[in-house]
This record gives sequence, structure tokens and C-alpha cells, in this order.
Amino acid sequence: MALVNMKEMLLKANKEGYAVGQFNINNLEWAKTILLVAQEKNSPVILGVSEGAAKYMGGYNVVMGMVKGLMKDQNITVDVAVHLDHGTTFEACKAAIDAGFTSVMIDASKHPIDENIRLSRQVVDYAHPKGVTVEAEVGIVGGEEDGITGKVQYAKLEDCVRIVKEAKVDCLAPALGSAHGPYKGVPKLGFDEMDAINKAAKVPLVLHGGSGIPDDQIKKAIARGTAKINVNTELQQEFAKDLRALLADPKNDPVYDPRKILGPSTAGIKRAMIGRMEVFGSIGKAAK
Ligand code: 13P
Repeated sequence: MALVNMKEMLLKANKEGYAVGQFNINNLEWAKTILLVAQEKNSPVILGVSEGAAKYMGGYNVVMGMVKGLMKDQNITVDVAVHLDHGTTFEACKAAIDAGFTSVMIDASKHPIDENIRLSRQVVDYAHPKGVTVEAEVGIVGGEEDGITGKVQYAKLEDCVRIVKEAKVDCLAPALGSAHGPYKGVPKLGFDEMDAINKAAKVPLVLHGGSGIPDDQIKKAIARGTAKINVNTELQQEFAKDLRALLADPKNDPVYDPRKILGPSTAGIKRAMIGRMEVFGSIGKAAK
């Protein structure tokens, strides 16, 4: 089994100049499709699980049971990290770690920086002895995800340096203009700020709101230390597009078996995922 934390995965990506995709999962169809595509493309992959998605699937233990079972029965050998996306409390991170997640994000970015650091450090102190990696966020990523909305607020360089040094997080998501969900217009990321944070913080950087960011900006972000890019909306949109087309086709009127409705619609997930991985450069980069 190739269930790993994100440490080596992200350091290798930084060194070799590509980024690993975090693709968020919602159910069995998503987890299975994402794992099979990663295997087919020989790419490392991070399965992102938000608190809301974990609840939807039945809980953190259900998620881990499902992922471990899929990896075994589907012969997944590429490196896979199972990562709590936007954990809001120490308790949520602890519950995910106790269930076997290999990585967690503590998103305490809505708190003042001292509290963000304190909470991140608390999670690191629990996670690291168990071999679990920790991501933190500084500033505010815009948009809406899982009912949480934010207005973009750029990360401050000194806060980024402090949280890495004082909380000892493994990777950092500095908010620099990206947003969750569809963009209105073309996003404009703060590349000078990203460059400065990369040089001073010295940990792999994470880019949230990866859906809809133009390819040239993705490449610029990778060149400035971004090793992990989160994508959720694009996969959902492509899945929904295929699902709508299937149901709208009159020849499918007699179809009622969920496997015949959901199964073919996973083609949208696959298409969107491959498109992003081609830009991220992670194809063929699974650890030997
Ligand atoms: P998108 O839904 O905009 O791709 O963002 C995903 C994300 O950042 C998850 O944390």
C-alpha cells in the first residue's frame, strides 16, 4: 500500500518543478475514479476531504475504510495522501488523524495570527509524533466552500515566516488572490508576494481555489514554490455536465440503475482531473 503523508511527496515536487493535485472526494465514485486515474497516469495524488464531505460520507472512519479498501482491491501503488481539507478545530483534526488520515489542514486563518499559530502548533504537536503532516493557512482565500465564505485577504510575509517557524507546519497556504468556486473574470495571483514567501518561509506552498486558474498562472505558481494545488469545483462541474447530458438523453429514459447513471458520469471527473494534472506536471512522477 502506498498510503503516505505529504512530506516527501511535496519536497520531491518542489525539487523537480511540478505540483501534486489535491482532488476533493465526495463519495465512492469520486474516490475510486481519482485513485484509478492517478494509477493510470502514474501520478502521486492527494485526496482532499472537507469536514462537510466526511460528514456526508458517514464519518472519518468510513472515508479511511473506503480508501484503504479501494487501494487494496484496485491495486493502487502510486503514493496517496488522505488529507483533511480546511479542518476548523483541533478536535476535527484529531478525529481525522485518529481515523488514519495521513495529513490534515488546520485552517485557523480567520483568527488573529497569534491564535492561528497557537492552534496550528497544537495540531502539529498531536500530528507529528503519529507521522501525519500539517498544512496551515495565512490570510483569507476568497469565495465559498462547504458553506464557508471569505473575502480575499492577502497573507502577510511576516505571518507566514512566523507560522512556519513557531508552529512547525509542513506546508503553507498563503492566500494571494485565489478563491474557492468559479471565478468572476480572470484571477490575478500575487506572484511577487508568493516569491518572497517561498524564499523566506522555506516550506512547500499550497494553492487553494485551483479551478479556473489559467495554465500560465499555474506554471508561475509552481516556479515560485507551489507544490500542492487544490481542485474541487472543476471536477464537480464536469461530473454534473456529464450527468445532466446523460439524464437529458431520451434514450436513457428507461434507465434507473444508479450504477448506470453515476458510473458513466465519472468520465467528467476523469477528464477534468487529467486536464489539471497535465498542467501541474505530476503525470509519471509517482515515487519509484
Ligand atoms: P476550487 O473548488 O475552487 O477548485 O478550490 C478547491 C480548494 O481549494 C479546496 O480546498
